[in-house]
Amino acid sequence: MVNQEKENRFRKFFVTPDLKLAKKRGKEDVKVLQFEEIPEELRTIGRGKHYLIQTYGCQMNVHDSEVIAGILEQMGYSPTEEETQADIILINTCAVRENAEDKVFGSLGRLKQLKVEKPELILGVCGCMSQEESVVNRILRRYQHVDLIFGTHNIHRLPYLLQNALFSKEMVVEVWSKEGDVVENMPKVRQDGLRAWVNIMYGCDKFCTYCIVPYTRGKERSRRPEDVLQEVRDLARQGYQEVTLLGQNVNAYGKDFADLDYRFADLMDDVRKIGIPRVRFTTSHPRDFDDRLIEVLAKRGNLVEHIHLPVQSGSSRILKLMARKYDRESYLDLVRRIRQAIPDVVLTTDIIVGFPNETEEEFQETLSLVKEVEFDSAFTFIYSPREGTPAAKMKDNIPMEEKRDRLQRLNQLVSDISRKKNEALRGQVVEVLVEGESKKDSHVLAGRTRTNKLVHFKGPKNLIGQFVQVRIDNPKTWTLEGEWVDQQVHSQVGV
Ligand code: SAH
Ligand code: SF4
Ligand code: F3S
Repeated sequence: MVNQEKENRFRKFFVTPDLKLAKKRGKEDVKVLQFEEIPEELRTIGRGKHYLIQTYGCQMNVHDSEVIAGILEQMGYSPTEEETQADIILINTCAVRENAEDKVFGSLGRLKQLKVEKPELILGVCGCMSQEESVVNRILRRYQHVDLIFGTHNIHRLPYLLQNALFSKEMVVEVWSKEGDVVENMPKVRQDGLRAWVNIMYGCDKFCTYCIVPYTRGKERSRRPEDVLQEVRDLARQGYQEVTLLGQNVNAYGKDFADLDYRFADLMDDVRKIGIPRVRFTTSHPRDFDDRLIEVLAKRGNLVEHIHLPVQSGSSRILKLMARKYDRESYLDLVRRIRQAIPDVVLTTDIIVGFPNETEEEFQETLSLVKEVEFDSAFTFIYSPREGTPAAKMKDNIPMEEKRDRLQRLNQLVSDISRKKNEALRGQVVEVLVEGESKKDSHVLAGRTRTNKLVHFKGPKNLIGQFVQVRIDNPKTWTLEGEWVDQQVHSQVGV
């Protein structure tokens, strides 16, 4: 059978994605639905079986994987780290850049052999790539060993989709192009006992011209304040020490409430009053970052002195082409206002080099902005054209070699500044939340400062999960090494 015929035959079993439809933003109200209990007959489907989730992409995806794990465990499945032991493998994908997608296709190719050896294995693809038509079509044509595809808007349907996949011979595809509602009370298996992710909103309406996220995640929908606050209170009660509030653009929180005048600053002010030691948030778009939010963050307490504030470019012309809706000057002004209110704030950022037709001078403006702001660190990327986005249609005359060279020059500058910033901490005593053993050396403990810097130091394992004071005596470019200094206090408390 030729591929087209095969696709048509499959299509009647499918709900496939449509990028054009995904772009449309309706006015209809977002309803808050409760996750429906999984029916009794599906609660034993996974008994004695194992699941494995491979997660790519941002924190949003990491947290979605915790929800998927929650659903699978309610269906009786247990976790495994071994592909060969798994009865179901789900790949939670990211579409933000081409290399993220390449990794997923690589993984799918590799898993084909496993599927041949173990035909009863269920292999599923979910996350942002599933929301793209071209990806789903490519899987239909070339990766027919995949059993299940679902998207970012219908995770709550997993029990039924998995049931179909288990009992059907065909590939099961259900991807909604429209976002639907906010579903509360989804089960979750959190991967960390100290730090938790909390969604405050879904989707993105910013439509930066290079970015696929508004298409894969749908329109902006905020969770109700009482639901967010209740989740944070519950986490505090369970002993979590840190929460990170998640949204693609947290500063747009609450804009979609028709009945409430309650925005991100209000939410932060209320979270501040909850007894959880540290509160972070990501990501904030500079455009909606208002003075009221700065005022609330300056109250500190559990609101930490770290803001991730993606700038993308230092050139106002490029920012305009990116549709970021701020320019170089207004970004620098925002940084000034933040630093005035919180002088010791740590700022980090995201930067794209090689946007279509970015000139050397425009790239130099990015370098000069980085020098001026002195970010403590930055995620840097080469622009990657994403199908269906406006920037992908722009003719680009900058060779890849040039883009790679720019990335390298930018990375050198970023690391020089990081090193300098960390050097300034030499001799200082910082508060560290101890997360566990260092990845490289089990005799060393690892934890983070309020500003999210990774600290390594020697100390007893019972410090894991606690806040300790560490004096920094060996700052490096990306990490800090130090000595635990509140041991006297601890042993006094002990006697
Ligand atoms: N919502 C977040 C960004 C999420 S994507 C924000 O606006 O801050 C994370 C980062 O990936 C972006 O900040 C951007 O720097 C980068 N990115 C997004 N699309 C990209 C593309 N097409 N090519 C290269 N980098 C991209
Ligand atoms: Fe993408 Fe821009 Fe939305 Fe961030 S704000 S997710 S970069 S469209
Ligand atoms: Fe990637 Fe989707 Fe996050 S595209 S960055 S996983 S929102």
